[in-house]
Amino acid sequence: MVSVASPLTLRSGTTLQNRIVKAAMEEQLAAGGQQPDERIERLYRRWGAGGAGLVITGHVMVDRRALAQPGDVVLDGTSDLVPFRRWASASGTTPVWMQINHPGRVVLRDTGVLALAPSATRVDLGALSSLYPTPKPMTVADIDEVIGQFATTAVLAQDAGFGGVEIHAAHGYLLSQFLSPLVNRRDDEWGGSLRNRARLLLRVVDAVHARVRPGFGIAVKLNSADFQRGGFDIDDAGRVIEWLGDRVDFVELSGGSVESLATSGHTADDRTLEREAYFLDLAGRLVGRAAVPLMLTGGIRRGAIAERVLDRGFALAGVATALAQDPELPRRWLAGDDAEVAPPRSVVRAKLVRAAAVQAAVTGRLHAIGCGKDSPTRPPILALVIDRRRRSRQLARYRRDNATDAGTRVDV
Ligand SMILES: Cc1cc2nc3c(=O)[nH]c(=O)nc-3n(C[C@H](O)[C@H](O)[C@H](O)COP(=O)(O)O)c2cc1C
Repeated sequence: MVSVASPLTLRSGTTLQNRIVKAAMEEQLAAGGQQPDERIERLYRRWGAGGAGLVITGHVMVDRRALAQPGDVVLDGTSDLVPFRRWASASGTTPVWMQINHPGRVVLRDTGVLALAPSATRVDLGALSSLYPTPKPMTVADIDEVIGQFATTAVLAQDAGFGGVEIHAAHGYLLSQFLSPLVNRRDDEWGGSLRNRARLLLRVVDAVHARVRPGFGIAVKLNSADFQRGGFDIDDAGRVIEWLGDRVDFVELSGGSVESLATSGHTADDRTLEREAYFLDLAGRLVGRAAVPLMLTGGIRRGAIAERVLDRGFALAGVATALAQDPELPRRWLAGDDAEVAPPRSVVRAKLVRAAAVQAAVTGRLHAIGCGKDSPTRPPILALVIDRRRRSRQLARYRRDNATDAGTRVDV
């Protein structure tokens, strides 16, 4: 019987010592040149010592013109690999895989970067939609360039000492935009049928696969559903997992997007997700159908819930927020202590502000650990105010850096 303490050997040959995975959390801790620094190392030293079987980094951008946030780390051909090597080794013997991502159309207008998407479909956030630019529909040359960027970043991650990459195809970023029939309105071979909409993800996986050595890990993070009427759904997820075949080590299942904040407990199709392990019932339908190990992430805060996820047939249990609050939780769960942390909560009624405030509270906690402080999670609204100030500073620096590189600067 599989328990959280059971080891797992993956397709690429890596053996994970247990089934608890620290899921990706965008650290927003990039220093100048969008490089990591000692704050990220400090944070990953804590997670490395915390007992998880695998640590997945926050998303790292493959194109420095396209950032989800101005504090995001970028790894491309111009990056200095030295700080990335230090990051890769910070977690000691615990394997660390880099999540790699392209935000596509989810770039805020003020960041003044390149917004690409399958079609010119802007993010729909009602009155707040104008925060996002109308994206440039990608040409086939743009598509080829993005495939190459994912592969280059994966090879650089390997050179820096990371054990694998997780390709981010969830949460409404570029690869998930291609998968979505609501965002992808193309009528060429990259749009229309699910097979065509999945083509970009499959090509990215192939390109990475072709360029890394055999023992290097490759995972994909996929939505179990977008939770939008007419969007990518659980049956689509099942077919995409089938097509990924045995080229990946595992598929992590999550859900939602910036338009449908399923990971914060609210969805655009009005289903509420207040329960623990809130994607379990839905994503559980894929267990048994998938040839690759599946990982479930979302709402896991107690060892008993992680066990329930494994009992349901998932190979791995992904934990994000709770491991920001207490990086040592896996060690305690493995020792049989059903320790739990309460998630940060906000009473603000506007759901977008509430979600942003809760996310800011978690980001603030990552920054506190990175700065060597163990201050507790701040009240979300206070955290949001502090977060906005920090973001302005990072944005000013990003703009300064890019102003000196006028060749790549694209205003949208
Ligand atoms: C501060 C923060 C940053 C996040 N950044 C990422 C990210 O970079 N990539 C990603 O795939 N998911 C990201 N997520 C989503 C988590 O990986 C996870 O899917 C979600 O938070 C639900 O899991 P949880 O309930 O354990 O937090 C982030 C979540 C938080 C709270």
